Amino acid sequence: MNSREHSSNPIIKAEPNSLILAGITPSGAGNLHIGNYLGSVKQILDLQKISKRIHFFISDLHALTTIQDKEQMQQNVENMILSYLSFGFNPEIVTIYRQSDILEHTELQSILNNVTPLGLIQRALAYKDKLQNDISDEDINMGLFNYPILMASDIILYDARYIPVGEDQRQHIEIARDIAKYFNNKYGKTFILPEMYPNFKEASKLIGTDGKRKMSKSLGNTIGIFEPEEIIRKQVFGCFTDPNRIHTTDRGEVKNNPVFIYHRLLNEDKAEVKDLEERYKNGKVSDTEVKEKLFNSLMKLFKNPRERYNELKRNPEMIKHILKNGADTARVIAKMKMNKVREKIGLTNKYS
Ligand code: TRP
Repeated sequence: MNSREHSSNPIIKAEPNSLILAGITPSGAGNLHIGNYLGSVKQILDLQKISKRIHFFISDLHALTTIQDKEQMQQNVENMILSYLSFGFNPEIVTIYRQSDILEHTELQSILNNVTPLGLIQRALAYKDKLQNDISDEDINMGLFNYPILMASDIILYDARYIPVGEDQRQHIEIARDIAKYFNNKYGKTFILPEMYPNFKEASKLIGTDGKRKMSKSLGNTIGIFEPEEIIRKQVFGCFTDPNRIHTTDRGEVKNNPVFIYHRLLNEDKAEVKDLEERYKNGKVSDTEVKEKLFNSLMKLFKNPRERYNELKRNPEMIKHILKNGADTARVIAKMKMNKVREKIGLTNKYS
């Protein structure tokens, strides 16, 4: 993001101190791959250049809707924490915490339950989708049903103004907004109304190395970030390219070729990418060279995070310290808001 984009960003101009809040659910195991990097990490790295306040949290309570095994939960959360912290977000701007470390999220949820109409939640898509897939009510847990109320609480607890999420989360943000309105109408203005971060790119659906489907751990078509070099090299070299190009001297297609899609998105040496594209189109470069250069560019881009990952892994105390700092900062805001909420609804009285 250059300085012109910076000063012309409408949000930053109009509301420089507004809070941007992003949450991620540790429902998938495994370490991050380049699809996750583009879909979430990179977006926060970009936002921290133009915003003064960002909350980024791991919604472990939301993960309980699907992860109901102690070891798997611990493993998922651990991997996620290690991976994200390795990118070294600017601590002056980004506050990182775990949802379950701040009890106010669930306290507020209990209170919001009472201003939320049942119908609003019955219209929630995540729940409706399950019903449509012929899953009976008996097999849907209340955590899933209540998911939008906890998510509303995550957001309005901090008066978060902008939520950078993909289209699939639009309805959740609308529900959070509705719930904040219901509360404000009944008890007087208490919460700021949140919105989706405008023009936020759809969380990128990066094509997998099979060239067919979205990159996803379960399909085994990923390129990792923190795995040993040999493994990442194998993943890069196993990548699908232009199937119609048999010989190096054949003219190749770059537009929908995954190796070139990755080059364009991740290789910071734009001149190199342009040169490779030109030569590929003219049958003047081998797939091996294109892949070797992609591999090198990934090693360069992820050099610091990879080093930091290993450092953090050896230092659980360091991680504890970072998470504690994040939770302490977030908790101050959460407590202030909850005092106000308790006051407004009459839980605070002359005996308090
Ligand atoms: N529902 C989000 C997801 O699945 C995660 C999430 C939980 C979240 N609480 C949030 C995102 C609050 C933004 C704000 O990705």
